[in-house]
Amino acid sequence: MKGKGSSRVPGLHRLGIDERRRIVAERGAGRDGPFPGPGLSDQDADSMIENAVGVFGVPLGIAANLVVNGVELLVPLAIEEPSVVAAVTNAARIARVGGGFEARADASLTIAQIEVLGAAPGAVARIDDAAEELLRAADATQPELIALGGGSRRLEPRAAVGAPDRLVVHLVVDCLDAMGANMVNAMAEAISGRVAELAGGRPGLRILTNLADQRLAHASCRVPLEALAREGHSGESVAKGVAAACRFAEGDPYRAATHNKGIFNAIDALLLATGNDWRAVEAGGHAFASRSGSYGPLATWRADGETLLGEIELPMSVGIVGGACRAHPTARRCIELLGVESAAELACVAISVGLAANLAALAALASEGIQAGHMRLHRRRLE
Ligand code: MEV
Repeated sequence: MKGKGSSRVPGLHRLGIDERRRIVAERGAGRDGPFPGPGLSDQDADSMIENAVGVFGVPLGIAANLVVNGVELLVPLAIEEPSVVAAVTNAARIARVGGGFEARADASLTIAQIEVLGAAPGAVARIDDAAEELLRAADATQPELIALGGGSRRLEPRAAVGAPDRLVVHLVVDCLDAMGANMVNAMAEAISGRVAELAGGRPGLRILTNLADQRLAHASCRVPLEALAREGHSGESVAKGVAAACRFAEGDPYRAATHNKGIFNAIDALLLATGNDWRAVEAGGHAFASRSGSYGPLATWRADGETLLGEIELPMSVGIVGGACRAHPTARRCIELLGVESAAELACVAISVGLAANLAALAALASEGIQAGHMRLHRRRLE
């Protein structure tokens, strides 16, 4: 990740839109023209989807103050909901008092599922024995990925998935800097006939799973209590309130759903701005939130008397090449503004803004409530 100067821009919200663009341009975005650029043309839209009739605009804002792994970042967020950009900016200002966010992401391992129906006894052993042949055949469909050092890593056969004779073989592929859906789907399709033959059954579905649990991102932050103080509320009471709100989410899926929605407010907005498939990450996140058998919070908070410690982990299948990341001119510029040089770095930023949005929401809920901030922004719109 390349830092492009401080992400502290006090008073950013009081500037005009042209002035904000100038600040962002100074930080290196807009090499291909002004930031954010003209957006999608009708022709671009027509080449991206079917039956295009136009382009739908969404506000693009900049969250300031982010520090991720010691790097200062201005973060582009595309979102129609008021207060998300302000919330991330505020929480990032608080978190930077404790050094900001520490984040890491797994290798870009994406899983394609190959289903076989009516599998015969001994199928798993036969597939294990033929693993090398199958991986070679899958890789043969992706010469560019292989040349860059990516490609299939292993097969993981799972017997009796939901029915005694349903075999599901997971093909695990390192997609490097791509999200990888098209690549792994093509690889799975290429070998599903042979897998079914080896298993003695019939080919079924072959498609990636969005529960990308071998492609997790993790972030944490440690916030000194005094940084959490706000009008009429001590830092200690806010920290206790945030931790208590987290306990609530741990004990109640109704609350956990809203807790996680606040996290995805920021993650989805960053993914939309960078041309990523936010629906895939949402689906993976909610499935991951249910992995214990009951739905729970994706981020947790503990207060230890001196600091508030936040942690978050979820599957983060994102890319900086391929698909809309390249096809969408504004997405390209947003990736350039961030200075991320790999999918893993983008995953680190995404997971960090998710934790920031959660901190902002819980700190507000644990003190003055959420409506005060919403109404402040609403009044500004009417001014
Ligand atoms: C609103 O978009 C998000 C919140 O409801 C999240 C939360 O309750 O944690 C404020």
